[in-house]
Amino acid sequence: MTNSTQISRRDILKLMGLGAGGLFLSACGLLPSASADPTAAPVFLTPFTPSPDLPLFSVDLTAGRATLPIFSGRETSILRYQASVKEGGGDFIQTLSGSYLGPIFRVKQGQHVQVRLNNELPDPTIIHWHGLKIPEEMDGHPRDAVAPGASYEYDFQVINRSGTYWFHPHPHQLTGPQVYYGLAGLFIVSDEEESALGLPSCEYDFPLVIQDRTFDSQNQMVYLANGMMDQMIGFLGDTILVNGAPNAALDVKASAYRLRLLNGSNSRIYKLAWQDGMHLTVIATDGGLLEEPLTREYLTMGPGERVELWADFSKQSAGSEMKLVSLPFTDFSGGMMGGGMMSGSSLPNGAPLDILRLKIGEKGANVIPLPPRLSTIERNRVDEAVNRNTPRSFALAMQGMIHTINDRVFEMDSIARDEIVQLGELELWEFLNHGGSGMGMGMMNMDMPHPMHMHGVQFQVLERQVARRYESAYQDLSGGFVDDGWKDTVLVMPGETVRVLVRFENYTGMYLYHCHNLEHEDAGMMRNYKIEN
Ligand code: C2O
Ligand code: CU
Ligand code: CU
Repeated sequence: MTNSTQISRRDILKLMGLGAGGLFLSACGLLPSASADPTAAPVFLTPFTPSPDLPLFSVDLTAGRATLPIFSGRETSILRYQASVKEGGGDFIQTLSGSYLGPIFRVKQGQHVQVRLNNELPDPTIIHWHGLKIPEEMDGHPRDAVAPGASYEYDFQVINRSGTYWFHPHPHQLTGPQVYYGLAGLFIVSDEEESALGLPSCEYDFPLVIQDRTFDSQNQMVYLANGMMDQMIGFLGDTILVNGAPNAALDVKASAYRLRLLNGSNSRIYKLAWQDGMHLTVIATDGGLLEEPLTREYLTMGPGERVELWADFSKQSAGSEMKLVSLPFTDFSGGMMGGGMMSGSSLPNGAPLDILRLKIGEKGANVIPLPPRLSTIERNRVDEAVNRNTPRSFALAMQGMIHTINDRVFEMDSIARDEIVQLGELELWEFLNHGGSGMGMGMMNMDMPHPMHMHGVQFQVLERQVARRYESAYQDLSGGFVDDGWKDTVLVMPGETVRVLVRFENYTGMYLYHCHNLEHEDAGMMRNYKIEN
């Protein structure tokens, strides 16, 4: 399993829509001037002007089984979404050629999107649009999962600001395996503010979805081979893939790129860095652009999190190589009291990893300097939170063999009294990762990071606090958090309390909050909350 996979120029072009025969302009975001579609406006609390100039985009997504040549030799059985555009043209969708991942939506804020999900899987499924502010029936709650052979109709307007959002299955107890075997894609939103910045676009705007998988000697994906341990800790694969390619390399030009990173792994955390020590320039997080670019020596990315980098290769000489790596860090997961690893993976969390080789080619487009100011983010203030003195607290703990939130696990329709919030209100939420009693006897120290995710909203991280005895390990990763912008997923480290400010501003309804370690989620580390009016 050591053959190198090139993400070739041809693939990039294909990715950009060229391979199919000259859809270059569309991939550059030039929208056709098109028919108005005055859709029924849902309840907006924040002022929002729908854009009647944007065409309806309507697409069929069929989730089904397929095989792909990922390695030489036998093809790999995978799951994937196949897109077929019904209205709006191919302008709003890109495919990642040769990959199980995708498609990639490229839509505009204000756009009306219709998706018909056809389930050709052997199990129920449903799509969740991760990060989108969307009515509850469109959000992909597990209760809406459709049986094999059935379909689900999505119809919504994109109200989020520009950003790198994504989508993946969300059926009860099957999210982990369905994502693992290949179902996930990006949902990229652009808006006018962003377009005015002149950030790298077209072939210079490139997604990098990082995942880990384990393959057997027949090139087939293996999931949860270590049974209970994998379930408790989370699945960790021994092969890193970027955009579905193992041992990935990317040909780039000597120019500036916008790299959209998604940690699409089930449970692995990355500590990303340029191998040569060059700092990373971050321009966006989960919910879009930061106010200003910032630099980091390394970036910590938990499952579900996104980060956008601005990377200038124009000073690199043709033929040289850059490498994106994951630096080593202290592994918390599943340490026994007194040390010793329980994880069955040969590649535990914290192992040093090669992520992607970038091969610098000829000179590309002239580099437009990165604007010093990218956006304006209105900071929410804690003294404006309705519960500023009594944060809504969520204790993350291990009980028996499962992870719980306030001693509860997921129940399809249940919402506890303390899980009801009011539309329009700004609240202070806090996630406390101070462990539980382990397996009852204190024999096991199940200190684990939990990437906590909320549906239906974007929040701001207010503060983090870590218990003293966790400090040294914590500092291994904490320098790589980017908490400055809008977030929908936040990594809560062992011993840590993370406080966020969240306004429930768009829709009423029942939404989820959960750990985005997909094995934890499937095992019940997820709850409903309800936004009431
Ligand atoms: Cu990406 Cu409910 O999750
Ligand atoms: Cu989500
Ligand atoms: Cu978790």
